[in-house]
Amino acid sequence: MSATVIDGRAFAAKVREQVGEHVTRLKEAHGITPGLAVVLVGEDPASEVYVRSKGKMTLEVGMKSVEHKLSAQTGQQELLDLIDALNNDPEIHGILVQLPLPDHLDEDLVINSIAPAKDVDGFHVSNVGLLGTGQKSMVPCTPLGCLMMLRAHHGSLSGMNAVVIGRSNIVGKPMAQLLLGDSCTVTIAHSRTKDLPEVVRRADIVVAAVGRPEMVPGDWIKPGATVIDVGINRIERDGKKKLVGDADYDSCAAVAGAITPVPGGVGPMTIACLLANTVTACCRANGLEEPEGLTA
Ligand code: GUN
Repeated sequence: MSATVIDGRAFAAKVREQVGEHVTRLKEAHGITPGLAVVLVGEDPASEVYVRSKGKMTLEVGMKSVEHKLSAQTGQQELLDLIDALNNDPEIHGILVQLPLPDHLDEDLVINSIAPAKDVDGFHVSNVGLLGTGQKSMVPCTPLGCLMMLRAHHGSLSGMNAVVIGRSNIVGKPMAQLLLGDSCTVTIAHSRTKDLPEVVRRADIVVAAVGRPEMVPGDWIKPGATVIDVGINRIERDGKKKLVGDADYDSCAAVAGAITPVPGGVGPMTIACLLANTVTACCRANGLEEPEGLTA
């Protein structure tokens, strides 16, 4: 069997187009421009690339983009004061603090100082709790992107066995909550899971989110299963730099029914969902109907 390749770039372009249409409507019908503020502390090159790309796409869909680049030595109170100002700025509907933060800053404290309604990453404990109890929340962007692709490919996910490999707060745990919300039977596997290959072989849906290059081989995959690869790992092979996922693409694609490639799978969906979350936050802040299909 050769798997259907789920094209995250094309899907993300469609999501951004939908977001752009909502932005136009918000501007024309209500005189509101959704605004996203991104805060970057320090000079991590990978984070700088992400932030630049977020800013560019925010502008492309017609939203207001604000970037705050702070030095690596920024103190905790200075960062909290900036977040407080953004929380109180009526032109800002979404706030994202790029992670990881330098070691001297308390990540939990910083994230939990963002107003939950503006927490477009969905990392604030209030949003985590709302998602866990099936209430309306801001949903973390990467898992939301994975869910959108799974729904588009399968229609209903009800009754499917889903195995999420990885238990991070950013991907693994919220992904499991979303799949449970769509009535999957969910297993969260991690580094201490016994008989991981056997656990994965039971899955109709495998979400690989461990950050270990090509860790999942094709012989762990049930024939016809869907593989969603969240990994973005930079490796060097035959003297060439390469991006690979957490799944071994060729062997998994030979067995799976569908698979997301790396690059060009989950990655582009993350930013598209950030833009979608910003529009959702803007609509909620203004008591307007939320865009359909852009939230969980
Ligand atoms: N760093 C890597 N991924 C993310 C993300 O989704 N949100 C934030 N804020 N930082 C990140």
